[in-house]
Amino acid sequence: MRLDKFLCKSTDFTRVESIDLIEARKVRVNGIVIVTPQAQVHENNSIMLAGQRLIARPSRYIMLHKPMNTLCSNVDGDYPSVMNYLHMDRAEDLHITGRLDADTTGLLLLTDDGRWSFNIINPKYHCEKTYRVTLRDPIEEGDIDELVSRFEQGLQLQGEKSLTLAAKLEVIASHQVLLTLCEGRYHQVKRMFFTVGNRVVGLHRQQVGKLSLDIELGEWRYLTEDEVSGFNCYESVI
Ligand code: URA
Repeated sequence: MRLDKFLCKSTDFTRVESIDLIEARKVRVNGIVIVTPQAQVHENNSIMLAGQRLIARPSRYIMLHKPMNTLCSNVDGDYPSVMNYLHMDRAEDLHITGRLDADTTGLLLLTDDGRWSFNIINPKYHCEKTYRVTLRDPIEEGDIDELVSRFEQGLQLQGEKSLTLAAKLEVIASHQVLLTLCEGRYHQVKRMFFTVGNRVVGLHRQQVGKLSLDIELGEWRYLTEDEVSGFNCYESVI
């Protein structure tokens, strides 16, 4: 990680304060003064600030059951931010791994580990996200096969250059489907159904990778080590 980030993760200094300290020649990495805040360091390096060895706090990995009418942002806006549900120190250091719309409920992941998030969000790594979708109009029995195949082949969303990647659609009732995607374009699920002439009236994310939502609305929990490392298995398919 970057040296300035390492300082933030191991002290109470802000990013700006960390950069000032580095530029003021106060930080040594493996005995050498480093003045570049962007320098890459590893946690195993000996990183000293004014003669004291720094140890990075462990990264945090959190599942939150996002309620309706909450914002995936670090600050409140038209609705309260989901951060209000996390009563913990340094909640502001966390970022959201794959945002949901204000009116979407379900599985939200938060972390302070950017590399881990990248594995989950980047379509290249093919990490599946499953949504339970409630539709305005019923899907007729006779239309199911064609619809499944359109989602599988990719849809041309308005204003997008490329087709959506192959998506799995499973019809579970006339107005309800499960949709599994491995990308997350802006309002993607809503726009996909708009493209096929329907409307989404309810959206809930129930699974990301192998991780299923298993807590009540508004609750959060830390992921287990196995759950965290389960996301590191995604390999690039492109
Ligand atoms: N697709 C949407 O349209 N909204 C979400 O919140 C997530 C996926």
